[in-house]
Amino acid sequence: MHTTYATIDLSALGHNLRRIRERLAAGADVMAVVKANAYGHGAVEVSRALAQQGVSRLAVASVKEGAALRDAGITADILVLVDLLDRHISDLLAYRLTPVITEQRLLPALDKAAEAKRLSFPIHLKVDTGMGRLGFAPDDLPALFEALPAWKSLRVEAVMTHLADSDGDDPGHTARQLERFRTLLERLRRQGAVIPHVHAANSAAIVRFPESHFSLVRPGIMLYGYHTLPGGVPCPDLDPVLALRTTVMQLRTIQPGDSVSYNRTFVAKRKTRIAVLPVGYADGYSRRLSNNGFVLINGRRAPIVGLVCMDMTMVDVTDAAPVQVGDEATLIGRQGQERIDAGDIAEWTGTIPYEILCSIGPRVPRVYQAS
Ligand SMILES: Cc1ncc(COP(=O)(O)O)c(C=O)c1O
Repeated sequence: MHTTYATIDLSALGHNLRRIRERLAAGADVMAVVKANAYGHGAVEVSRALAQQGVSRLAVASVKEGAALRDAGITADILVLVDLLDRHISDLLAYRLTPVITEQRLLPALDKAAEAKRLSFPIHLKVDTGMGRLGFAPDDLPALFEALPAWKSLRVEAVMTHLADSDGDDPGHTARQLERFRTLLERLRRQGAVIPHVHAANSAAIVRFPESHFSLVRPGIMLYGYHTLPGGVPCPDLDPVLALRTTVMQLRTIQPGDSVSYNRTFVAKRKTRIAVLPVGYADGYSRRLSNNGFVLINGRRAPIVGLVCMDMTMVDVTDAAPVQVGDEATLIGRQGQERIDAGDIAEWTGTIPYEILCSIGPRVPRVYQAS
């Protein structure tokens, strides 16, 4: 049926969730980050599987992502982390999505819309403690809390921050961010603020900074089986959830001096058996893998040769013989004793596993293996 497809192992997702939960400080709960189509894994199916495991809070990037989950029948609390403008307010309310508020500008309009619907609408307030991206300055929050009663239809459900360097070599910046955050929380509590939830930790912080767990943690990448922790930090035992496979579409033998693909960047030095695979950069299989990476065929590593094209990639299978048309080629996943994961591809192409997973394009069907 499909020649190129991704399999999503929902039992691996459950395994990774358990590895996260067993590390949580007492009283902390998981808000699963399923933005960017659950890092390429399929947000609806991942959210359903997480709900079966008792996860009742999700985070997405945009109102559009949250609305798609609601349309698919997801009933969990959904936090919108990033993309929020005035024009999103009516959908935010209609789809019962919770906004992360990063500046005061939206509050009057949000309050008015919530009042019209007679809602007590939850909001999360984000503080920039050192990410340099979105959020209130810590010193602005006490005054904001003083002003909040004016917006009668809004209620603060959480105060949050985001850590810039929790997977960095030096824990210093994270420690300073957490210190700033704790100082602010104390100041707010002293002034009588009621803050039901507090959250800060992404995946790396869950492992490395238990003091960042507060009442909710926001794991993304670890749920999907990866981490970017520095060497030396004891890592949880995670299982990659996604495998990416394709099928040998054609085989050809080329002679020394013959070239492969655009611009002739690979010229055979020997008689070479080439397999043509129907996957390319339009599927998210990066062009930076040109002459720079491997796939698994016959349980062996076959090097990618020539430029990766929009819809095709060529590999040298001379040393993986016998290969036949219709054989499976594994781009991410296990085959025999060998394994390639998104971390390997990230290393070959100078990026992070996040980007490899999120880039797998919409034309690659996702096939779900039940938990
Ligand atoms: C605000 C926020 N929280 C949590 C996460 C999850 O991070 P990770 O995938 O490193 O666990 C992200 C991801 O980018 C994020 O933007």
